This record gives sequence, C-alpha cells and structure tokens, in this order.
Amino acid sequence: MTDTTFTPRVFSGIQPSGGLTLGNYLGAMKRFVDMQDEGSYQTVYCMVDLHAITAKFQDPATLRHNTRELAAGFIAAGIDPAKSILINQSQVPEHAQLAWIFNCVARMGWMGRMTQWKDKAGKNAEAASLGLFAYPALMAADILIYHATHVPVGEDQKQHLELTRDIAAKFNHDYGVDFFPLTEPVIEGAATRVMSLRDGSKKMSKSDPSDASRINLTDDADAIAKKIRKAKTDPDALPSEIEGLKDRPEARNLVNIYAALNDQTVEQVLTDVGGQQFGSFKPLLADLAVAKMAPISIRMAELMADTAEIDRILARGATQAREITAPILKKTYEIIGMVG
Ligand code: TYM
Repeated sequence: MTDTTFTPRVFSGIQPSGGLTLGNYLGAMKRFVDMQDEGSYQTVYCMVDLHAITAKFQDPATLRHNTRELAAGFIAAGIDPAKSILINQSQVPEHAQLAWIFNCVARMGWMGRMTQWKDKAGKNAEAASLGLFAYPALMAADILIYHATHVPVGEDQKQHLELTRDIAAKFNHDYGVDFFPLTEPVIEGAATRVMSLRDGSKKMSKSDPSDASRINLTDDADAIAKKIRKAKTDPDALPSEIEGLKDRPEARNLVNIYAALNDQTVEQVLTDVGGQQFGSFKPLLADLAVAKMAPISIRMAELMADTAEIDRILARGATQAREITAPILKKTYEIIGMVG
C-alpha cells in the first residue's frame, strides 16, 4: 500500500459492444448503484467505447447506438447522473493520453500473460489488433486517471485489476513517487460470475450464440420468465446447505442469481428454499427476475426515445470528469519530465 491518502473514489466501466446481460447487471451495474447510494464514495461510471473497437470492427452507427443504449442501461438500472459522473470514455481524452504513458510502463510479458488476451486473440494472435494487446493498459489508465481507490467488477476482470496495481507500483517506483493508488478490486456478492442458463460451466455472455443462455437487459417479462423456466437444471431437490451445491453448477448458478437479485446471501436463500424441487423454485425465481429486470428494460426503451437527452448527460459528465482527470494528467507529465 502507498502512504498517501486518496479520496475514496469508485471507477468502473462496461464496453458498449452491444447487448447487456444479467451477468453485467448483477456482477457490475447493480453493485455500481449500491456503491453510488452508499454515499461513502465519489462514483464515476464509464462506457468504454475505445475498448469496444479493440476486438473486432464495429460499424460506426452501431457503436453510436450501443453507447447510447448502454448509457440508458446505466440510468435505468439506477445510476443517477446527479449523484454519479456518467461518461463516455472517448469524450474524456485524458484516458487515452495516460494509456500511452502506461504502454511505456507495462511490459510485453505482463500483457502476454492476460487470459482475456489469450482467449480473445485465440490461435491467431498475429492477426489481433495491437489495441487488443494493449487493452489492459488503457483499462489501468481509466482507473488511475481518477486516482480511483475502488473498482467494482465481476470475477473475470480480476487479473486486469492486478495488472493495474502492478502498473501503478512500477510507475511509483520508477519515478520515486507515491502518486498512483494501489486500487482495490471489489469483487463481492453472490453473483460475481453469472453462468449460462444452458451450461453451468460457461460464463453468461452476450457473445454466446444461444439467446436462451442469457437474460438480456432488453428482454421483456415473457422472455425472462420463459428463459428461466427452460434453464438447465438437475433432477435433485435444492439443498439446505451450500456444500450441497458442490458439483451442481446449474443449481448453484440459479441460487446465486436468486440471492443477488433479492439482496440475500446464498445461505439465506437455501434456508428458505432447501428441499424444494426446481418445479417450485423456478417459478419463484422467474417472478423475482421479472419483478427486478422487466422495469429496467421498459425504462431503457423510454430513455432511448430521447437520445439528445442522453447526449446532454454524457457531455455534462465529461466536463465534470475532466475537472478530475486534467490535473492528474498534468501532474503525471510533470513527474515524467515533459516540458509544458
Ligand atoms: P465487460 O464490458 O466485459 O463487462 C462489464 C462488467 O460486467 C461484468 N460481467 C459479469 N459479471 C458476472 N457474471 C458475468 N457473466 C459477467 N459478464 C460480465 C464484468 O466483470 C465487468 O465488471 N474490461 C472491462 C471494461 C473496463 C473496465 C475498465 C472495468 C474497461 N475499463 C476500468 C473496470 C474498470 C470489460 O470488458 O468489461
């Protein structure tokens, strides 16, 4: 840990690459709202459009649509632009400027060890973009350009956050300063890794070819209930203790989802539903999911009817954000020895 005391500040981001899932909601957005409402942090939430172009070509009109839809998703899920700073990454240029510095701090070996790089580049790394390789340095810049102290994310981002700490530590060490905080990942709650509804060994993802594998934030009540009714399960009754979920990935996933949606622990849920068959548990889960998720999809559609208002919110967010990021970039340049 560094000795400097930093303002408690939360930063997190989501890619506007089209389609938000229940995984994004429970692993990230819902917890963003909790941290916003807790009142002990300044909160900054971001559509990371510069990250969205690293993996594959994005049609410009689609990227614009997806960015606005993600902003609508944030607001519909409970992010209040009067309480949190809501931004689009490319509108705050200091993110990309600090990322360049971090490209010169991070080592090729560190980047090459990132499991998301290996997964996304696949067997043909030669054909992957340089941006995909450098992706985690931009992510570190997103966080550290705010001197953010806490970053709520799902389990799959843990390694990137460890790298963010490595970059901050190396910068501080190389320049003999105590300038960037060693940010704390916040990976908490019952749903840090929501799994596919069709296969409990696979992460719920917008890129899964089967739409039945996920609940989309744009799904209506009927679609949500139907997907839960059809979710893969096993023939046994639900256990009363957590140990009973071992080796039952589909059962564990549905119980985790229930707990996260209902703000309960898995233990509490099992105390209530232990002994029930899926035939009676699934309707309970479907009702809960519809009650919590359907209003979000309705609100998102309403917000998308006025994209000019979304653009105004993002412009205001960018102005507020730059009050934080511009001085931190200026100071970074001074530390490095850039004349300006
Ligand atoms: P992204 O866009 O893939 O996902 C956004 C957030 O949703 C979480 N998530 C899940 N959580 C639980 N179960 C799931 N099935 C699931 N799927 C997605 C992710 O863990 C993430 O928290 N690199 C990031 C975006 C990013 C970022 C940042 C995050 C860019 N800069 C700075 C934090 C701080 C990403 O691709 O997330």
